[in-house]
Formats: sequence, structure tokens, C-alpha cells
Amino acid sequence: MLGVWGRAPSLGQPKAKRYMTHFLDIHTTPQPDLHKIISNARMMKDARKDMSKGTLDEDQPLAGQMVALIFEKPSTRTRVSFDVGVRQMGGQTLVLSGADMQLGHGETIADTARVLSRYVDLIMIRTFEEQTLLDMAEHASVPVINGLTNRTHPCQIMADIMTFEEHNGPIKGKKVVWSGDGNNVFASFAHAAKQFEFDLVYTGPEPLDPERALDGLYTTVRDPNEAVQGADLVVTDTWVSMHDPQSARERRHNQLRGYQVNDALMAKAKDDALFMHCLPAHRDDEATSSVMDGKHSVIFDEAENRLHVQKAIMRHCLGL
Ligand code: CP
Ligand code: NVA
Repeated sequence: MLGVWGRAPSLGQPKAKRYMTHFLDIHTTPQPDLHKIISNARMMKDARKDMSKGTLDEDQPLAGQMVALIFEKPSTRTRVSFDVGVRQMGGQTLVLSGADMQLGHGETIADTARVLSRYVDLIMIRTFEEQTLLDMAEHASVPVINGLTNRTHPCQIMADIMTFEEHNGPIKGKKVVWSGDGNNVFASFAHAAKQFEFDLVYTGPEPLDPERALDGLYTTVRDPNEAVQGADLVVTDTWVSMHDPQSARERRHNQLRGYQVNDALMAKAKDDALFMHCLPAHRDDEATSSVMDGKHSVIFDEAENRLHVQKAIMRHCLGL
């Protein structure tokens, strides 16, 4: 008699070990994989927009799978786009706040990673120190995705590359100018410059220069007007990131005011140049509303493409 549990012999049999890979950063992901993720994201987006042809989500690759989305910092885009992306592919999510977990009360990352791996099939984490992400990846037996650390934001820049190529074709050989703080989003642009073979120019005040580990991946032009000459893409980000102390706000604003992206600055870029900002923005600080809502701006396409590219990243991580 087998009872309600079905065929007894299947109980307790070990699961076959599955393919898995982490997505921790752009420079640690092989170049062919990065290109494949972008092209798969584009295919999934196109298929979803033209429902008459069906969608690549129809096979529901995440059916029966549970994804943990851990946030130790606030988020709108990352939270919603991952949650929606998992659901579109047939999976389910647990959205967890670091502060509500034992993680926020002293449990080690290693123990948390081992425990979560017994419950879920994939972990996305937004955290402060990069080491937290690396420890999670080292000790988890399921894939881990970087949803932003103090040092990098790779999912964002994958969406930005996808967005650029949708509008203006291959980014290879193009001139990308970052105006403002040399922060975590810039760092992922720097990693992408090497992997996707574009020229990256940083313009910003010396005290906020990018970290030395990124040397060689970009050039610095201190004068923003000179830097944006002939740019194919102009990018900026908030002047005060989530990990920056609020006490530094006034000093940073004073240092960065000259690097605001406004109409006069955009006019020095190419006529068909794009403007990007990962959002959330502080309108009329790092970029004027006239630029954010103007003809060069693709900021909401960037936000939408987080959804599509992260679906492709999750499939890449799970080998689906
Ligand atoms: N760009 C981005 O990551 O936005 P959120 O902080 O809203 O997730
Ligand atoms: N540099 C910003 C990006 C937010 C998506 C931050 O870290 O707060």
C-alpha cells in the first residue's frame, strides 16, 4: 500500500546535481556568456511583446522553483523586476529584508547561505560589503546573483548595454562618458568597457575618483565639457549613494555641482547620443529634468530592461 505519498521507491532518492553558476560581476563572467545573456534577454523581450508568436516564458522554466530576494538596502526596480521576472517564468519568490533575518542579528553569512540553499533554488542579494556577497556565493550550493553592493551593480549595467544596443546598435567601439561620482555603478561600467569593448571616459572631481582597482579600464578627462565631446552615451548617477554617510551630502553636492548633466552638456555629445541614469534620480541635482525627460533620454527603457536581462541572467545561472 503506497498511501498518499505516491511511489515509495522515489522517496529519499538523492537529486541529481544540477548545473549552476553565480552572477557576481561583469568582469568575472566570461565574455561569451555576457553576450548570450543580452541576446537571450532581447529574444525574451521580443517574444513577450508579440504574444501572437507565443513567449519564451511559455515553457515556464522556473516552475516549481523558489527564489530568495534578500535586501539589506532599499530598492524599487531590483525588487520588482526580479519578483516579476521569476513569476513570469513560473517560479515563486521570497522577498526578505536583511534586518528581519538572523543575518541582521549576527548569524554568519556562511551559515545563512548553507541554510537558504536547503530551501531555495536561487539567491539574489543586495548588500553593503562585497565580502558578504562573496561569502554567500562561496557557501551557497545554489546560484547567487549580485543585486548591488557598495562596489558594483552588474545587473544594472547589463540592462544598460541591452538598452544602448536596442537604440543605437552594437556598443563595441562607442564612446561612453560617465559624469559624476566614481561609484559602484561606474565600477560595473568600467568592467563592461573591457568585456563589451567600448571606450569609457570618467569626468568627475578628483576626491570622488573611482577606486584604483579599476585603473586601466577607463580614461579621465577632468573638464566635463571636453569629456562629452563626441559621446555616444552620457551616464550619471546619484551624488550620494545608499552606503555614503548623509553627513557627506553637502560636501559631495559642492564637489559634483559642476558635473551636472544639463542641456548645455548634452549638446556637446553626438546628435543621436543617449542619456542614461540607473534611477532613483534626484532631479535637477545630477541631471536636469529637461535632460531626463528630453530626446536623448532612455531612462525608462533601462528600468524596463532590468526585467528582461535579469530573466536571462537567472536562466544562465540555473542552466535553463
Ligand atoms: N537602479 C536600481 O537598482 O534601482 P533600485 O535601487 O530601485 O533597485
Ligand atoms: N549608486 C547608487 C545606485 C542605486 C541603484 C547607490 O548605491 O545608492
